[in-house]
Amino acid sequence: MHAIIQRLQDCLGPAGVLFEKEDLAPYCTDWRGIFSGTALAVALPKTTQQVAEVVQLCRAFQVKLIPQGGNTGLCGGATPEGDDPQIILSLKRLHQIREIDLENQTITVEAGCILQTLQEKVAASGAFFPLSLAAQGSCTIGGNLATNAGGINVLRYGNTRDICLGIEAVLASGEVYSQLKGLRKDNTGYDLKNLLIGSEGTLGIITAGVFKLFTAPLGHYAALVAIDDVSQMIALLQELQRRAGNELCAFEMMSRESLELTIRHFPQYNRPIFTAGKYTLLIELANFEEEHSPTSTRVQEVLEGSLENYLVKGAISDAAIASSQAQVNEFWGIRHHITLAQAKEPGNIKFDISFAISKIAGFIESTDALLKEQFDGVKIINFGHLGDGNLHYNLCAPEGASVDYIANHEKSLTEVVIAQIQLFGGSISAEHGIGQLKRDYLFQHRGGVAYQMMKDIKKALDPENLLNPKKVLL
Ligand code: FAD
Ligand code: MLT
Ligand code: ZN
Repeated sequence: MHAIIQRLQDCLGPAGVLFEKEDLAPYCTDWRGIFSGTALAVALPKTTQQVAEVVQLCRAFQVKLIPQGGNTGLCGGATPEGDDPQIILSLKRLHQIREIDLENQTITVEAGCILQTLQEKVAASGAFFPLSLAAQGSCTIGGNLATNAGGINVLRYGNTRDICLGIEAVLASGEVYSQLKGLRKDNTGYDLKNLLIGSEGTLGIITAGVFKLFTAPLGHYAALVAIDDVSQMIALLQELQRRAGNELCAFEMMSRESLELTIRHFPQYNRPIFTAGKYTLLIELANFEEEHSPTSTRVQEVLEGSLENYLVKGAISDAAIASSQAQVNEFWGIRHHITLAQAKEPGNIKFDISFAISKIAGFIESTDALLKEQFDGVKIINFGHLGDGNLHYNLCAPEGASVDYIANHEKSLTEVVIAQIQLFGGSISAEHGIGQLKRDYLFQHRGGVAYQMMKDIKKALDPENLLNPKKVLL
């Protein structure tokens, strides 16, 4: 047994340290089972002070440290890699809500709090917490901060960074950086909060955050829309943004292939509308007003009116509007199960990419054509947060292909898509981060100057390379 384990137990108690092989296993493999590694132990601190003590111990023993929240990340950032002695630092037990300040409209919460628990606590106080994603029952707010998670409400509320007013973090030195005052304005030097948010555990261990709270909508309206043409989707997005402003909270796109795959694994979500177009949109608007006529609200009229116009001019082939909140939730069922369905397939490559909205149609048309020409039968599982310019442009093996197809073609498929992303001026990671998955492409994508700046920052904050080594940067 490595000497650090006894010292960790002295600090965290026996329940705060796991070191038996079978206890370590679930922490050493990522959610999709793609990345796997080894660790000496999992440390489970309950307080920020304990996190700082664990970091001090790791420094003393020169043991590397992999921060982990809910382990739902999609790019291998929370999985240990390599042979260096390392421990996983799970934030799971550091999960208290420290304060809800309704006057300041803020909540201060510890990193290990599960996102859904946070949403529910805020709802119980009468306010609204907008960050929402399919993994919300397992992912933690610390993981959301560390990846600057996006999710389904970015159109109206922004990414995690946009709703966070401050964080507390333990640095590689073992010192605690704390900025939890809940200020909406603060121009005192460099923006350290935003440097740590999105740093994927490589610059500090986030132990708490203070977030903005919002007014809860009175209701939501949602529609499924069958549509063929990507340019028409963008036109509809713009019409809804013009007419509804930021009451438009979600504008999601699902290709026919992504729906077919999902229905194969989760047939309960099938609906006739899914075969009426090459794509199905899931559009959601929030309503903040009382009914302005006996039967409808302004937002409802905007949604119905716009869809009717598009039906009349033939730009969409079908639309279904949810008639109750239960049906709104049902519409989201299929969207939230696409990732789960993909995880059941033998092999796939994820591209979580973004573009200026004006470039999306061109990217899809030309990349679909290139892939079909060069990789016969390859399946393009294209879905995502179209309103944010964010596509989950994932690739699966052709029907009946060998189980090694993706492994054998991964490099060439990736190079084609990455070249296309460069050509259309996009990003290789919109919301999931770099982790291990896209690390080899970061230098090429960001260029030498940005890459060197990142390396300099890493060296300044973590000179011994203790925190999440080999993630993000090579
Ligand atoms: P983990 O997976 O445990 O860790 C992710 C990264 O953050 C790792 O690099 C880890 O080292 C680091 N980290 C974790 N906690 C801390 C901490 N406290 N301090 C410092 N570093 C830390 N992501 C989106 O952005 N949008 C989506 O819509 C979305 N949908 C998803 C749907 C499904 C079904 C699944 C499985 C995942 C989805 N994700 C999505 C990805 C994932 O849920 C997010 O990246 C989430 O923010 C990760 O949180 P986590 O607690 O699971 O972090
Ligand atoms: C989502 O939006 O569902 C996830 O970010 C997607 C993914 O699986 O790529
Ligand atoms: Zn997403």
